[in-house]
Amino acid sequence: MSDPIIEVSNATKTFGGLTAVNRVSFSVSRGEIFGIAGPNGSGKSTLFNLMTGIPYGPTDGEVRFNGERIDGRPPHAIARSGLCRTFQKDAEFPDLSAIETLQISAVYNGGRHGGQALEKAHRVIELVQFDQSRARMPSSELSVYEKKQLMIASALISEPSVIMLDEPASGLTKPEIERLDALLIDVNKSGITILLIEHVLSLLLSVSQRLLVLNQGEILAEGLPADVVRNPAVAEAYLGGRD
Ligand SMILES: Nc1ncnc2c1ncn2[C@@H]1O[C@H](COP(=O)(O)OP(=O)(O)OP(=O)(O)O)[C@@H](O)[C@H]1O
Ligand SMILES: [Mg+2]
Repeated sequence: MSDPIIEVSNATKTFGGLTAVNRVSFSVSRGEIFGIAGPNGSGKSTLFNLMTGIPYGPTDGEVRFNGERIDGRPPHAIARSGLCRTFQKDAEFPDLSAIETLQISAVYNGGRHGGQALEKAHRVIELVQFDQSRARMPSSELSVYEKKQLMIASALISEPSVIMLDEPASGLTKPEIERLDALLIDVNKSGITILLIEHVLSLLLSVSQRLLVLNQGEILAEGLPADVVRNPAVAEAYLGGRD
């Protein structure tokens, strides 16, 4: 692999008797959009958790970022070193505006204060193409898509080299998913590597350069998206796993 930015080897996470992620190994190249798919409960979010240390590291195995081991490091140290994530559940501060939310993120995630935090907030607002005229209203009044933009902006506030997005398309309409598609491409073109967990396969297949499919905590398939979706085992896992 040319210039890996992330290398995960034999990552494992157990919860009592349950192995949620079982000896998973893969690498992500610098500058790539790397997609992660898999049925519900296949271990996708757990994989992000153990990689970022939020809220836990792996039970076993190694995670390297820029060649250095990060498993076992405190979550804030991992984030500040340039590996930032969003969460599957939207968790906005309903009374705060987008600008205020991002200023807080800039203080906590980026170590910035006052004018510097405001400057950062404006920079990421622009990067995610958030409507400036809506940046000062309470977040509770924002649309679902605007909340997603805000979530991605928060992940970008500390100028990370990698962002990890956990199902950002959930709850979006088809036209909004197309906007998100274009946004992810733009963010990636600005030099940011993206790891993307997504159930919306049209989005995942459109933006990902490579795809990893998990099933019951293990890697079921990995490779070029077009090849992975043709893999009969992948179709079987999805159809078998559907509610
Ligand atoms: N904190 C926890 N304690 C116990 N079991 C957990 C915990 N977190 C996750 N699990 C279990 O680990 C497995 C993987 O869960 P995970 O949330 O990683 O799946 P997922 O692929 O993200 O699913 P989804 O697509 O529904 O978001 C599931 O069986 C889940 O119930
Ligand atoms: Mg999940």
